Amino acid sequence: MSNATLSPLPSADRPDVAVRLREALLAASFTADGLLELLGAPAYAALARSELVPALRATRGDTPLETLVRLFLLQQPVPHARVEGVLPVHACVESGWLTPVGEDDVAATVDVRPYGGPAGEDWFIVSDLGCAVGGAGGIGSRDESVVLGVGGASTTLAGITVRTPVDSALDLGTGSGIQALHAAQHATRVTATDLNPRALHITALTLALSGAPAADLREGSLFEPVRDDETFDLIVSNPPFVISPGARLTYRDGGMGGDDLCRSLVQQAGERLNVGGFAQFLANWQHVEGEDWQDRLRSWVPRGCDAWIVQREVQDITQYAELWLRDSGDHRGDPEEYQARYDAWLDEFEARKVRAVGFGWITLRRTASAEPTITVEEWPHPVEQPLGDTVRAHFDRVDYLREHDDAALLTGHFRLAAEVVQEQVGLPGAEDPEHVVLRQHRGMRRATKVDTVGAGFAGVCDGSLSAGRILDAIAQLVGEDPVLLRDRTPTQIRLLVEQGFLEPA
Ligand SMILES: C[S@@+](CC[C@H](N)C(=O)[O-])C[C@H]1O[C@@H](n2cnc3c(N)ncnc32)[C@H](O)[C@@H]1O
Repeated sequence: MSNATLSPLPSADRPDVAVRLREALLAASFTADGLLELLGAPAYAALARSELVPALRATRGDTPLETLVRLFLLQQPVPHARVEGVLPVHACVESGWLTPVGEDDVAATVDVRPYGGPAGEDWFIVSDLGCAVGGAGGIGSRDESVVLGVGGASTTLAGITVRTPVDSALDLGTGSGIQALHAAQHATRVTATDLNPRALHITALTLALSGAPAADLREGSLFEPVRDDETFDLIVSNPPFVISPGARLTYRDGGMGGDDLCRSLVQQAGERLNVGGFAQFLANWQHVEGEDWQDRLRSWVPRGCDAWIVQREVQDITQYAELWLRDSGDHRGDPEEYQARYDAWLDEFEARKVRAVGFGWITLRRTASAEPTITVEEWPHPVEQPLGDTVRAHFDRVDYLREHDDAALLTGHFRLAAEVVQEQVGLPGAEDPEHVVLRQHRGMRRATKVDTVGAGFAGVCDGSLSAGRILDAIAQLVGEDPVLLRDRTPTQIRLLVEQGFLEPA
C-alpha cells in the first residue's frame, strides 16, 4: 500500500501536544457552532459539497478562528507569525501537526474538522488533507490509502447505532475514527480495526484531539484482527461497500467481487456477538436479474440472529457508476480515461447480471430464540435521526410479538405511540374517506393504511383496556359479530405493533 503522495502524519505518541492543540482550538471557538457562525449557512453548506471558495471569502480576516479554518479546513499556508498567537506552533511543528512552508509560512499536515457530539461535545475529526469535508471529488490525493473524514454515510451509521451502555464495542474499518469516538461514550472498551495502518494512526489522533480515551487499535481485514474467543456487545461498520470493477481506493472499494465484502461481514458478525448484542452496518447489495433482492439479503443473515434490513435507496447501474466516478474525481480528469472506467464498471455489472444496486442499513441482534425474526423492507422516505432508540425498540417489539400468539395479543394492553396522527384521504367533498392513514411524526416516520376498525382501535389504545375488550366495544358500536372481529383483527394489531404505531403497555 503506497503512501507516496500523502503527507507524513503527526506523531500519535505526543498526547501532551494533542491536549495543548485541543485547548487552543477550543479557545478560538474552532467548533461546529463557531464554524457555522463564522462562515454562515451557505458557505458552511458549500464546504460540505467540497466547494471552498465561499469559505475562503469568509476567512479573509485575521482572527484566530479564521486562521484555524484556513489552516485545518482549507489547506492554506498561513504566516508563522499569525499562527503564533493562536497555536503552540513550535510543539505543533515538532510533533508534525504543522509543517514549515517557504520562508515564513506553516501549513497543516492533516485536515481537522470540528464535529459536534450528540450531547454537545466538541470533537475533532482528523483526516488526510483535502478530505475533511464533502469527500465527493474533493479528495486531496488519489493514493489508495487516503483516509477520509466524515461523510453522509458516517453520520448515518452514527445516528442509527444503538447507544445502550455496553462493555465492549468493535468498530470495523474505523477510518477517521468517528464511529470509535461515538462508541467511546457508551462502551467501556472500544476496539477499532482497519486494513489501512494509516487509518489506525489517524483514529488515534482523532480520539486524542477529541479528549476521548484511546482505543485498542488493530490492523487487518474484516474479522482477522479479532481473536477466536473474542465477542462484543456492539459491532459497527461503515465498510468499503462500493461495488466496483477493481479495488482502487481502500476507503471505499472492498476488493472482493460484487457485494461479497458486505455479505462476508454480515455472515461473520453473528458469532462475534454476545447474546443481546447488536451489529450494525451500512451496505450496498446487488439486484440481480431473476433474483428477489430480499431473498438475497435474507440469505446473508447468520444463524442465531434477528435481523432488520432497510433498503433506503436503489440506483440503476449507470447512476451508481457515475456516483462513484465522481467521488474519486474521475469526471474532472482525462475524458478518455473516464469513459474507459465507466465502461469497465458497466462490463462488471453486465457480467454479474446486476440491474441495480440497493443501499441501506443492516442490523443484527444475537438472540437466544430458536426462531429468529428477519425483516427485510424498503423505506426510502425521510426519517428522524438519531434512530438508535428506534432500532432498539424495533427489536423489543420483535421479542414481544414472538412471545405472543393471536390469543395472547387479545389479552394484551397497548398504547398509541407518541405523535401518531390520523389522515383521511379521499376526494374533496366526499362524505367518507377512501382510506385512513396513520402517520408517525417521529423515528422512522412510517405511514400505514388502516380500516375504520384499525383506526378506532388505535385511537382508544391508552393502555387501560385489553385489546379484546376494545374490540368487543367496537363490535357493539358498529354492529359486528364480536367473535368474528376478535378473529380477524389480531393480524392488523400485529402489524401496528411491528411497525411501532402501538406499543405494548
Ligand atoms: C467507508 S470507510 C469508513 C470510515 C469510518 N468508519 C466512517 O464511518 O466514516 C471504510 C474503512 O474500511 C477500511 N477497510 C477497507 N477494506 C477493509 C477490510 N477488508 N477490512 C477492514 N477494513 C477495511 C478502509 O480503510 C476505511 O477506513
